[in-house]
Amino acid sequence: MAYENILTSIENGILTITINQPHKLNALSKGVFDDLDAAVKDVYSNDEITGVIITGAGEKAFVAGADISEFSGLTKAEGVRLASRGQDVFNAIENSPKPFIAAVNGFALGGGCELAMACHMRVANENARFGQPEVNLGLIPGYGGTQRLIQLIGKGKAMELLMTADMIKADEALRLGLVNHVVANEELLGKCAEILQKIATKAPLAIAKVIECGNAYFTDGVNGLQFEIDKFGECCETEDFVEGASAFIEKRKADFKGR
Ligand code: COA
Repeated sequence: MAYENILTSIENGILTITINQPHKLNALSKGVFDDLDAAVKDVYSNDEITGVIITGAGEKAFVAGADISEFSGLTKAEGVRLASRGQDVFNAIENSPKPFIAAVNGFALGGGCELAMACHMRVANENARFGQPEVNLGLIPGYGGTQRLIQLIGKGKAMELLMTADMIKADEALRLGLVNHVVANEELLGKCAEILQKIATKAPLAIAKVIECGNAYFTDGVNGLQFEIDKFGECCETEDFVEGASAFIEKRKADFKGR
């Protein structure tokens, strides 16, 4: 599919989505959200795709936040709509049955940090910078930042970053657990692909259930341990479970079909 604001390519089952607005440091405009929304929907339905990398065009930024040029004169109702739209798209990433990895290649600020946090993992290059600078604009994060930052790094440090608007470097993000790996820029996409290729050798339905269980931990009113029991039971009904267990006993590589 052709998009105006993002680039997409598929190689070995891995979809790479590149936010392509380098002249404004890949800021998340309405148009970017529309394209991202459509691309994420395609991930759910396209059997060719086993995993996704999201990155930013150019050498400077992953995504430098929501597009501030679209902010002027926003009413309360429009602000609510904007935040809801962003959260819907990011929730669809977080709840995707297929893994998403953010390849953070520069500034990941505001909505950019929130986009990276909605992905299941984050790999950064050495130039990456993370922050939630919304309070500088008289705002707060609206695309899940106050919740996901606390989930990932704990309340104390998250509160500091949210209230000071401080930017942190990649090594600090690694220390805090905000990113999974920091690599040289030339290794960034390769490292993400390597992780996704490893996951693609596993049983796809089991991977989807791991994602569901991980998200259940943070879902109000859901007993995560009971949810895990239910999902474990569902795995036992899959052909892939029969295949995986048989392959182990027969000392051969499993041939998973995603059924
Ligand atoms: N929305 C819209 N445009 C943005 C943007 C954003 N979030 N972030 C950067 N841009 C634009 C700049 O306006 C500038 O455009 P111009 O060349 O037409 O003037 C261009 O991208 C380059 O940015 P610039 O500020 O000149 O780069 P820099 O290296 O001096 O600073 C940042 C980089 C990321 C520190 C700075 O751009 C910044 O603070 N951006 C906003 C971050 C933010 O507050 N995000 C949260 C939004 S809720």
